[in-house]
Amino acid sequence: MMKQLFLFLAFTSLLTAGDNRSLLFHGNCVTCHHEQMSISAPSTNEIKKHYLQAFPQREDFVSFMSEWVLEPKEETSIMLDAIAKYELMPLLGFDKETLKDIAGYIYDTEFSKKHKSF
Ligand code: HEC
Repeated sequence: MMKQLFLFLAFTSLLTAGDNRSLLFHGNCVTCHHEQMSISAPSTNEIKKHYLQAFPQREDFVSFMSEWVLEPKEETSIMLDAIAKYELMPLLGFDKETLKDIAGYIYDTEFSKKHKSF
């Protein structure tokens, strides 16, 4: 009985962690960064493509993206043409840990395939 309960708890907390990251991303980034379409900002797919080219390793990808979003700056941008086209991304005021979760979610998610979006 204890074992089942433990497994159940471990499983639900895993699920919750997954949903949290998705919720953070969909609630805070997708308004500007649609998954596939670049409208008022480059799409998430476009950003991910650029980032993967510059930072193929998950650790570097997450570290650079969370640092950049924490304080968007032209000097550290790897998408200067996006700044020219849409203007610099505004400062959002998230903490670093939240931004790492979001960046990790972007790295882990295949946006062109069906995935949870809540
Ligand atoms: C109010 C609109 C807006 C929101 C909300 C927003 N962004 Fe952006 N973002 C932009 C625009 C516009 C650009 C393109 C110009 C630039 O690169 O600064 C951009 C660019 C970026 C880039 C490219 C950085 C580079 O090298 O230039 C990353 C990464 C990024 N956004 C991540 C995020 C994440 C993660 C979130 C959610 C936490 C988010 N953005 C929310 C507007 C937004």
